[in-house]
Amino acid sequence: MSSDGPGRAVAAGASTAPDEKAAERVPRVLAADDDPDVLAALKLLLKAEGFELETATSPALALAALEKRDFDAALLDLNYARDTTSGREGLELVERLRALDPTLPVVVMTAWGSVEGAVAAVRRGARDYVQKPWDNARLIQTLRTQVELGRALRVGQRLEHENRLLRREGMPTMIADSPAMRPVLDLLARVSPSDANVLVTGEHGTGKELVARILHSSSARAQRALVTVNVGGLAEGVFESELFGHVKGAFTGAAADRAGRFELADGGTLFLDEIANVPLAQQAKLLRVLQTGEFERVGSSRTRSVSVRLVSATNADLHSEAAEGRFREDLLFRINTVEVRLPPLRERREDIPALAAHFLRAHARRYRKNIESLDAEALRALLAHPWPGNVRELDHVLERAVLMARGDALEAGDLGLRVSATGAPSLEQMTLDEVERVLIQKALARHGGNVSDAAKTLGLSRSALYRRLERHGL
Ligand SMILES: Nc1ncnc2c1ncn2[C@@H]1O[C@H](COP(=O)(O)OP(=O)(O)OP(=O)(O)O)[C@@H](O)[C@H]1O
Ligand SMILES: [Mg+2]
Repeated sequence: MSSDGPGRAVAAGASTAPDEKAAERVPRVLAADDDPDVLAALKLLLKAEGFELETATSPALALAALEKRDFDAALLDLNYARDTTSGREGLELVERLRALDPTLPVVVMTAWGSVEGAVAAVRRGARDYVQKPWDNARLIQTLRTQVELGRALRVGQRLEHENRLLRREGMPTMIADSPAMRPVLDLLARVSPSDANVLVTGEHGTGKELVARILHSSSARAQRALVTVNVGGLAEGVFESELFGHVKGAFTGAAADRAGRFELADGGTLFLDEIANVPLAQQAKLLRVLQTGEFERVGSSRTRSVSVRLVSATNADLHSEAAEGRFREDLLFRINTVEVRLPPLRERREDIPALAAHFLRAHARRYRKNIESLDAEALRALLAHPWPGNVRELDHVLERAVLMARGDALEAGDLGLRVSATGAPSLEQMTLDEVERVLIQKALARHGGNVSDAAKTLGLSRSALYRRLERHGL
């Protein structure tokens, strides 16, 4: 791992590649039409709307322009003088431009009423179409959306590329480019190489475990084990022997000596997930090993010592848990030498296009489907959704959509997002399963993400709630 740390290495936001400023750059559009009046009108309109426009009066000139420089979008007429009605030249141009730059969003202009041409163009890789004479507002909106989508695809592709290189070193993929994530990336880059104990907080599905893996794989302990314990999933009473191990005969069922997770993580990292659920009675033992590195297996008096870096995660507010006496304050100050707060996805919507593109590629590869993009309507739906289940929910939505999709671009309908931007659907519109999901989300929100309390409110055991969380992808 370079001294730049994981923030720089794995996330676009923290690196300084030349195309970094793409998001702030004036969008550059290539327009091709053999009618100079059309090009003049486009120039006037696009300039006023903050675009830079380069024009070409023939397919050959359009290709030459793209060979010289990159564009954020291309706007092409389908009919050219040599062959004014079939649109064949225009369709060929779509294909050739896409071959030169597969991430270039192409929008075609068709004569009013000639939908067949538009359909044929979309089949060959055009992303959208407008009809002539065009509606100014709609044309601008279409171009803006395509520019944004194209940039997201490019960022996603570059991150994938960087990550492929990094995966050889075992670095997991993290996509984060939004202003809300920049401080997080900076913090990760600074603390990863150290041995500092890190507490990762954030709602369900925000990427806490992913952060734990990044912290481990970019630390000096990367070659040793990362051992994960889901404290929330441990039955009451087994915490101590799970963590510290036991000797034969220590309790009924202890048939042999067994090493605990602290011993397994010696030299490496221990990830304690859902740490708010450590029983109060066990918190003192945890504190001791964190202070001294020493512990005994259950049933043994021999003191063992280990070198373990602790990363813990919670979706509860440990400070208020401590204030209410459910979590030891001295333990809190031991585990949160550094606290990494992951913002919910709704506070970093800028990341949605790149995350969606990333999950789309991953699932398309996994299910061997030839799906390369999502259409503008689908992107709008993703951007409008409230994402109560955060990045994991986005991952699941894209997985389902890839499975459902029939075409080679995902459409809004494939996403199955029933909650509209304007609010939740009424009870009558929901299935029993969806109602359950909503009630669980509400209970979690009410208890600040504390699973035990939410389970109590719902009349479920904690493990029953965990099973449901998993099933609903929450
Ligand atoms: N920034 C990101 N870039 C790419 N993938 C991400 C990102 N954040 C999360 N993911 C993916 O989303 C899924 C959920 O993330 P993760 O399991 O780390 O969340 P979590 O906060 O631990 O959730 P929970 O609270 O439910 O345990 C994982 O598959 C993870 O790899
Ligand atoms: Mg987790």
